[in-house]
Amino acid sequence: MDATILVNRTHRLPRKAIPQTLVEPEIIFDAPVGDRKRLLAVSAAKGVEALFARGKEEGIYLCGVSGYRSYERQEELYQKKLREQQELDRLAAMSDDDVMQASMNRVSQDTERLTRRNIAPPGASEHQTGLALDVSCQAVDYQLDERFGETREGRWLKRCAPLYGFILRYPKGKEHITGYGWEPWHIRYVTRSLALYLTLTGLTMEEYYEQK
Ligand code: DAL
Ligand code: ZN
Repeated sequence: MDATILVNRTHRLPRKAIPQTLVEPEIIFDAPVGDRKRLLAVSAAKGVEALFARGKEEGIYLCGVSGYRSYERQEELYQKKLREQQELDRLAAMSDDDVMQASMNRVSQDTERLTRRNIAPPGASEHQTGLALDVSCQAVDYQLDERFGETREGRWLKRCAPLYGFILRYPKGKEHITGYGWEPWHIRYVTRSLALYLTLTGLTMEEYYEQK
């Protein structure tokens, strides 16, 4: 797959799109040894090794959490989230206490919104390309949440990732364009020249391709 490929809800990958070569980068992972989520496409793996090594020199310790994900794995994750959602709906419908029911409905609606905003349907995830990696750090217990964006590590990542060919793919304020909520932990390899261009212009990949 080309390193500059656009993948989103409207530009989906077929089930059979699998990166030609997947390798495990030499970085620290918060994922079990042998898990396929430790794999990346070769270009992304090289980039992230250099990026994390540079971080280390500056006292910034980053950790990989989730890289490659197959179409099938994304389908599993998506379905699991939807099932959790349906369970909440069922509990809300069962309750005969009005206050409880209203509150369950609210939780259920919020979950649905979050599922649709935060999890890509199968074929719509950049993780299927092997070019995306979720990153975290010890200060937030290696979680993937918005708190990471406020850490020293998260701020460093945002500043330095483009030098190594990565962008923060889902920025704050562009949710309506990317179709996903702010994800300060999700980096995407796009080549150094495109990463620098997108950073200087402030464009998302969607905006860049629309202009072309
Ligand atoms: N969280 C990102 C959008 C994904 O599921 O690929
Ligand atoms: Zn991600």
